[in-house]
This record gives sequence, C-alpha cells and structure tokens, in this order.
Amino acid sequence: MKVRKSYSEIETETIGFELGLLLKDEPRIVILLDGELGAGKTTFTKGLARGLGVTAVVNSPTFTIMKKYKTSDYFRTLYHLDLYRLEGEGTDFDLEEYIDGQGMIVIEWPYQVEDFLPTDYLLVKIKKLGDTEREFTMECHGYPCKRAVELI
Ligand SMILES: Nc1ncnc2c1ncn2[C@@H]1O[C@H](COP(=O)(O)OP(=O)(O)OP(=O)(O)O)[C@@H](O)[C@H]1O
Ligand SMILES: [Mg+2]
Repeated sequence: MKVRKSYSEIETETIGFELGLLLKDEPRIVILLDGELGAGKTTFTKGLARGLGVTAVVNSPTFTIMKKYKTSDYFRTLYHLDLYRLEGEGTDFDLEEYIDGQGMIVIEWPYQVEDFLPTDYLLVKIKKLGDTEREFTMECHGYPCKRAVELI
C-alpha cells in the first residue's frame, strides 16, 4: 500500500502520470478509482493516459459508459469507464462487453457494480481533504502491480 498527497490538479495528474509510466508495459491492468464527486478521478486518469502514451485529450465519458483511446504508436490501449450512471440499476454488468483487447482499464465509480468486478486490480482511493488537498491510497490486489505501488 502507498499513500501520496496532492495539493493541486496538476499534482494529481502527475501522480497519475507516474503510475501510468510504471504500468505501461503491463498487458492488462484494471485500475479502480474510488472517491466522491470531484475527488479527482478523471484528473488522475488524464495523468495515467499520458503515462501510457495517449496524446488525445481524455475527458469524462459522460454520455457513454466507456471511452477507448489508443497511444500514438498504436501499441497500447486505454479503456476509461465511468459507472456513475449505473447506480441502483442492479445491472448484470459484464466488463468484457466493453473490452475488446488488452490494455489499461480504468474504472471510475467501480462499486456501482461491486459484484461484477474482477478479482485482480489496483485500487486507488482518493480522499478529499480540503478544497485542493487530496490523499491517494494505492493498493495492489492480485496483479503484478506490487512493484509499481512500491515505486510510486
Ligand atoms: N488536488 C486536486 N486534485 C484533483 N482535482 C482537484 C484538486 N484540487 C482541486 N481540484 C478540482 O477538483 C475537480 C476534480 O474533478 P474530476 O473531474 O477530476 O473529479 P472526479 O472524481 O472525476 O469527479 P466525478 O465523480 O464527477 O467524475 C476539478 O474541478 C479540479 O480542478
Ligand atoms: Mg470523473
């Protein structure tokens, strides 16, 4: 487990960027982002995307559940899911319906579908401590992400 603190939007993006760099060569990694509205999940994802090598602008998938991005060299894929709108639907959520290959799979609001989440994942808990102060707790569950969490 690792705890990092951020005091600005840029700092949050930078922590995401560092984690993205550390994980970019993993063929498949699921990253769960847990935190309240405005905690910084999407900001963190922007950093992850840059670390992976995505140059396109990453925005919240508001009208779709999932947005897919390719790196400019086309080797890597980012799947960005926001499950906020699935609240209370009791959906039979199937992650694999959204994922058509290997890559980094980032999920905002993962606990909307708690029963349908994969067993191996890297969990990032984001706590809002103040207007611009955030605490990030990173935990590796199952995946070969232990080293990344140690190094970040
Ligand atoms: N240290 C910080 N890290 C990240 N965002 C910050 C920070 N301080 C202030 N902010 C502000 O908090 C907001 C974070 O928005 P962001 O969309 O990343 O949150 P989110 O967790 O994805 O929210 P949502 O649940 O609505 O998807 C932005 O408006 C940003 O400017
Ligand atoms: Mg968001």
